[in-house]
Amino acid sequence: MQPRPLLAGNWKMNGLAASAGELQKIIAGAPDLKADVLVCPPFTLIARFAEAARHSPVMIGGQDCHAEPFGAHTGDIAAEMLADAGAGAVILGHSERRVDHHETDAEVRAKTRAAWRAGLIAIVCVGESRKERDGGRTQEVVGRQLAGSLPERAEAGRLVIAYEPIWAIGTGLTPTPADIAEVHGFIRRWLATRFPGQGEAVRILYGGSVKPANAKELLTVPGVDGALVGGASLKAEDFLAIGAVYR
Ligand code: 13P
Repeated sequence: MQPRPLLAGNWKMNGLAASAGELQKIIAGAPDLKADVLVCPPFTLIARFAEAARHSPVMIGGQDCHAEPFGAHTGDIAAEMLADAGAGAVILGHSERRVDHHETDAEVRAKTRAAWRAGLIAIVCVGESRKERDGGRTQEVVGRQLAGSLPERAEAGRLVIAYEPIWAIGTGLTPTPADIAEVHGFIRRWLATRFPGQGEAVRILYGGSVKPANAKELLTVPGVDGALVGGASLKAEDFLAIGAVYR
């Protein structure tokens, strides 16, 4: 049985107090979708958004967390702080953090443990570069990221994998449905082998240039359990139009 899909928006470094109106529109449209809806704004908006979404089906999440619960880590945010602010999930190991902040698989694994310690759903991102895809190394790279970024044990309800080919993020380029099916199938087999009894039900999202115009083609690929949407999640209208695949 396919798990309930997850429509997740990653706002990245976008959003001010005035963006609350977009959230309100998402909250208004979410009940029409047969999917869980998650919005991950910047840290500064989490508490405000969580309060606004409190009695709605929309969950609010973070985009990163520190592995430690507290301490001398200037500028960092603990998973416990996200939970305290009302977040229910956190994106971890996004390629923009792996590249811009040199995050390693081991750090992502420690952060995943931290997310679970705080009771959050961990959305762990994996994905190959253009060079790696052209070199036929996609599965090798994704397999290595999964092996290094995930703890020894996992609960299906607490873990989500987002497959985001780096070359598809913010570029308007997307893999073919056949390529997405192949990688999602690989991730599914990997999870089922590594976490018997749980890996079969972990949701595997596709991310990278998902737009209203290509949502149906990309999100109805067998093995795709939802989307992690960047740019198109900033406008409620576009985000909900993508979610309309799940009406
Ligand atoms: P875009 O949808 O803007 O390509 O970003 C995808 C992404 O990185 C989501 O985490």
